[in-house]
Amino acid sequence: MTPVTGGRNGSNGDATHSVADADARISIFDTTLRDGEQAPGCTMTLVEKLGIAHQLARLRVDVVEAGFPAASNGDWAAVHEIAKEVGGADGPAICGLARANQRDIDRCWTAVEPASRARIHVVLATSDVHMEHKLGMTRSQVVAATAAAVSHARSFGADVEFSAEDAARSDPAFLHEVLTAALQSGATTLNVPDTVGYSTPDEYAALIAGVGANVPGVDRATISAHCHDDLGLAVANSLAAVRAGARQVECTINGIGERAGNAALEEVVMALHTRRPFFGLHTSVETRELARTSRLVSECIGVDVPPNKAIVGANAFAHEAGIHQDGVLKNRLTYEIMSAETVGWNGVGLVLGKHSGRHALRAKTEALGYALSDEELTLLFTRFKELADRKKLLDEGDLRALMAVGTEAVRELS
Ligand code: KIV
Ligand code: ZN
Repeated sequence: MTPVTGGRNGSNGDATHSVADADARISIFDTTLRDGEQAPGCTMTLVEKLGIAHQLARLRVDVVEAGFPAASNGDWAAVHEIAKEVGGADGPAICGLARANQRDIDRCWTAVEPASRARIHVVLATSDVHMEHKLGMTRSQVVAATAAAVSHARSFGADVEFSAEDAARSDPAFLHEVLTAALQSGATTLNVPDTVGYSTPDEYAALIAGVGANVPGVDRATISAHCHDDLGLAVANSLAAVRAGARQVECTINGIGERAGNAALEEVVMALHTRRPFFGLHTSVETRELARTSRLVSECIGVDVPPNKAIVGANAFAHEAGIHQDGVLKNRLTYEIMSAETVGWNGVGLVLGKHSGRHALRAKTEALGYALSDEELTLLFTRFKELADRKKLLDEGDLRALMAVGTEAVRELS
């Protein structure tokens, strides 16, 4: 293990929190295997986790949070295997979660240690409601525990991230005090979670900017966003955060995670990619692996991706309405802001249904290898509309069947 020290970006070394950086890089921290797996019904076996971790490496995320080693022997084993198999010199940093106590941190270190870039992610809550009702700790105890935990994690030579759980509902001045203690004790990433998905984009941006302005020495660290989707704002909040100076975004494939889930990785990445001139930021993610990664996660947890899900839903690049299909056939830019190929959706495109027009039908039949005359197309179109009225979407099999009948009819005519 090569210790990842100080640096302006913890694991990557080329990003800072400065909003003025032109086209700075956003580090993508994937927590599908930790926060994602905490969602009801989303547990995965070690083999599945390993397969997903390999795929996340192909996707070229910067950090894989592989689990919470102190939670169970199974979690420890999965993190350890992933650190050994996926955490090579060219692979992502491998991270494990630990509460702010020695036992968790020790257990976490033994799990992540084989990785070339090993990260210990220490978490302690900073909101009054969590400190009083969950932790039973005073503010000064939380500051002291943060410093002790981060120092202990650093003593192994690990890269240390500190998360102020429920930061979005914390007193900002106290949050700054805790993050300052974490930074001074050796943390290189300061994570500011909206644990309960309560924040709005403007508020969350102000919170991130406040950390950038009020934590002395924060230039030496990476500020990180971690948003939950309880109000459907996780991606919007994450994007507001990077505009305000965050340089790491924590997210999950398909947005899986506690309750309503986390910010969806594919949405954050494609927003930054598609609107690069607007954000002036980029990631290292291999976007053509997004669809494959989404499908793998969906198969492992047995939860389908909704068809209208942005980027990876089955309908995300499908045009059914006749006017849209006509436009797309003439020039894809009429209705497409990004291409299906960019996210690895090959062979997906026009979906035929009752709103589809003649142009789309001709294009689809040509794609299937048929060159129909105008007369044949007219006959096929009539039959197609009759069937589409009864059946919502028509697949290739339906079209081939229709064409067989259509050809008979054409023959009868001649
Ligand atoms: O939502 C949260 O606060 C978390 C922390 C462990 C970062 O998942
Ligand atoms: Zn979370």
